[in-house]
Amino acid sequence: MKQLGQTDRKRLYRDWARRSSGRLALLLDGVASPWNVGSIVRTAAAFKVEHLYLAGATVSPGSARAAKTAMGTERYLSWSHFERGPEAADAAREDGFCVVGLELADQAVPLHHLSVGRDACLVLGNEDHGLSSATLAACDAVAFLPQLGRVGSLNVAAAAAIAIFELRRREWSGA
Ligand SMILES: C[S@@+](CC[C@H](N)C(=O)[O-])C[C@H]1O[C@@H](n2cnc3c(N)ncnc32)[C@H](O)[C@@H]1O
Repeated sequence: MKQLGQTDRKRLYRDWARRSSGRLALLLDGVASPWNVGSIVRTAAAFKVEHLYLAGATVSPGSARAAKTAMGTERYLSWSHFERGPEAADAAREDGFCVVGLELADQAVPLHHLSVGRDACLVLGNEDHGLSSATLAACDAVAFLPQLGRVGSLNVAAAAAIAIFELRRREWSGA
């Protein structure tokens, strides 16, 4: 066993990209830490997320600290800014996405039980207060990631990574 070199990785990724036709986008509602935004951007770029809808005080992926954490992968994504989460959700819907909030909310369903259309925009909230009630109300569906331990919630970048992978995994397994 040995690690793959650059050329083999490119071939491997091309192969998986061919099996991934669903469109993905993210809506970040007030994600305030440039390190979180940078980390989300890098994961998003790795899984072919096409657009970021940035609401409220979300840090721009182009800011120096976010771009450093993203290691330049922000060049693979486009983004647009909105004053409020609901406006951003409307824009995502107009672009053809089913808008899926990710939050530990009372009527949320486990993400692995939620059937989403082919094209989904995942909505992630602020590190402190999560998704605003207005943004939650603007979502087509709300899902949560079941947790097992004594931790109140996941880091927002970790939650984004798990949820993005779950949606791609479904495509690959034909679920
Ligand atoms: C750190 S959490 C927000 C804090 C949370 N409202 C609390 O009081 O514990 C930041 C964001 O990560 C996402 N998140 C974290 N854990 C999650 C989980 N288990 N299921 C779904 N989303 C989660 C949500 O989008 C949330 O708004």
